[in-house]
Amino acid sequence: MSLTRREFVFLGAAGGAAAAAGVILPVGLSWDRDEDGEVTALVLQYPEVVVGSYLELEIGTPSTFEYPAPGQPNVLARLGMPAEHGIGPEEDLVAFSSLCTHMGCPVTEFQSDEGVLGPCPCHFTSFDLAHDGQPAIGQATQRLPRVLLRLDGDEIVATGLRRHVYGYADNLQGVGVELLQSS
Ligand code: FES
Repeated sequence: MSLTRREFVFLGAAGGAAAAAGVILPVGLSWDRDEDGEVTALVLQYPEVVVGSYLELEIGTPSTFEYPAPGQPNVLARLGMPAEHGIGPEEDLVAFSSLCTHMGCPVTEFQSDEGVLGPCPCHFTSFDLAHDGQPAIGQATQRLPRVLLRLDGDEIVATGLRRHVYGYADNLQGVGVELLQSS
């Protein structure tokens, strides 16, 4: 799909006011539109959090972390093959929400030989992490939300989310807790 435009809004002032009022907001957002002007994906930026060590993360052995708030599970993996939007020297480092986009069941199985998360324990959807979390088989039709990452030396840093986490209209709605802070 060809994208014609990405728009970005910095929410610093609004975020400061919201924080003073005890409300948590993302720190920025952008969205992609297709050539017809329709929004194709929302990108939400949150406070940055260190979620792993590149040197300690073994290929094919994913780790898990919660982001952008406690209780929101994600999987972090080196696939051992270049991945769409993968980062790192091998472009194989990716992270995704592990809540299934069909009905929100947590997906914990990982097939390291194919870079696939799944099957989901509820209705057996598997997601192809090398192709931006697209469903490979099963009931789900939506891609997994992708966690935006950057490398800072050995530290793997989460910076935001592309697409909505299942069950959260704004990825934080209803969580009612503080954002994770990097230590
Ligand atoms: S909740 Fe995962 S396939 Fe239905």
